[in-house]
Amino acid sequence: MNIREATPDDFDALWPIIQSVAAAGETYPYPRDLAKEEGKRLWMELPQKTFLAEEDGRVLGTYYIKPNTGGGGSHVCNCGYMVATEARRRGVATALCEHSQQTARALGYKAMQFNLVISTNEVAVRLWTKLGFATVGRLPRAFAHPRLGYVDALVKFKWLADE
Ligand SMILES: CC(C)(COP(=O)(O)OP(=O)(O)OC[C@H]1O[C@@H](n2cnc3c(N)ncnc32)[C@H](O)[C@@H]1OP(=O)(O)O)[C@@H](O)C(=O)NCCC(=O)NCCS
Repeated sequence: MNIREATPDDFDALWPIIQSVAAAGETYPYPRDLAKEEGKRLWMELPQKTFLAEEDGRVLGTYYIKPNTGGGGSHVCNCGYMVATEARRRGVATALCEHSQQTARALGYKAMQFNLVISTNEVAVRLWTKLGFATVGRLPRAFAHPRLGYVDALVKFKWLADE
């Protein structure tokens, strides 16, 4: 598996992954009928950088990195991760998250924050916790899950810098 920065030309290969995660409606606060142009804006244009994991020319997963807020909060970055259904349970998200922490440090960030980890997304909650992200907040019923109704969302945070 190779992880590299994505270019605008890669978006067509990322889109099926983003579209299917959005359509499921269970893990990201994106419209379930997300349009391709809006998906490109959210995943490639608003973020500072976007990366992808590939193997034999096939995209396995992707992440973006961007400042979580500005001004006095701009040393904290925010990332999002998606892995193709057929590539899950092979450590792709683990590799992407570890890569993103290196990217964050290289870009000068001191911490990483996930703003809306859906509490019912047990794989993600367990994975981010294992990779050192503390749960620093619980937003009660902050996400409308298509099957489960209003569910809690977690704020997860990791300090990356030595100091
Ligand atoms: C969450 C997600 C990114 C995980 O990707 P992944 O590449 O399958 O994750 P990994 O293979 O690195 O697995 C992480 C751990 O979870 C376990 N795991 C993964 N999928 C699992 C499943 N469906 N059931 C049980 N365990 C699972 C793995 O065995 C692994 O455990 P280990 O580290 O103890 O071996 C992926 O499921 C996904 O893209 N989901 C939709 C989008 C999403 O939820 N993004 C995160 C938003 S916060």
